[in-house]
Amino acid sequence: MEAALQSIRSKTHASPAVGVVLGSGLGAFADELSGAVSIPYSDIPEWPVSTAIGHAGKLVLGNTAGVEVAVLAGRAHLYEGYSPAQAAFGVRVLGRLGVRTIVFTNAAGGINLDYSQGALVLISDHINLQGSNPLLGPNDDTLGTRFPDMSDAYSAECRAIALQTGNEIGIPLAEGVYAAMIGPSFETPAEIRYLRIIGADLVGMSTVPEVIAANHMGIRCLAISCVTNMAAGILPQKINHEEVLETGARVRDTLVRLLNAILPRLPR
Ligand code: HPA
Repeated sequence: MEAALQSIRSKTHASPAVGVVLGSGLGAFADELSGAVSIPYSDIPEWPVSTAIGHAGKLVLGNTAGVEVAVLAGRAHLYEGYSPAQAAFGVRVLGRLGVRTIVFTNAAGGINLDYSQGALVLISDHINLQGSNPLLGPNDDTLGTRFPDMSDAYSAECRAIALQTGNEIGIPLAEGVYAAMIGPSFETPAEIRYLRIIGADLVGMSTVPEVIAANHMGIRCLAISCVTNMAAGILPQKINHEEVLETGARVRDTLVRLLNAILPRLPR
């Protein structure tokens, strides 16, 4: 990680306290930052370069609503063949740059029947079904403790701020539990029924390794899922990635508005 940090610090002296991680089709936020320095992941030593369609793949440091932010536009997923530690690499870099709070966004399938396509849902907790963990192996004590607590993995304080902000600006937010699958195949209808029984409201293929690594470093996490589709077997239709990207694009402006309203209010 030292080589990555050195390379970033040679290009900017920014000291962001808040990070943002943008998911599939949700990259627009990064393009609207002021005074931005944009660094393609491919220019940063050691950085796992994402191959997913809809992921631009750059670190952007800039300002929005008076807040200095570091944005990861594009992430590495386990389904691309990356290890959980690689998936968490960018978040760890943000932590080392001084970020104390991270807002994650992702695309997710809606399991809870109260949700509809396009809904924005705060993740209140997760169920890790990816069969792995970014903290496997020897613990790096400089980052955090061997057995980090996960009982407030999605900061209750940050969620309360997000809910209040959403109410004030007319963007209703639900809350729900996110089940993380490894992908890349979408779930079967039987898997979705199983996930509903065990308490999941949303299903997706990202975010959880990043949130575990962030909690390890004592970084507060807020995560917002865009329900890009209802999960498998709920509607009489197939799920495809184009639909995921289309819905992401449709709610893009709403999400950007929400992020800009929430960011200045978050603890840092
Ligand atoms: N399942 C898993 N991941 C997803 C989905 C889904 O239905 N939609 C967007 N990401």
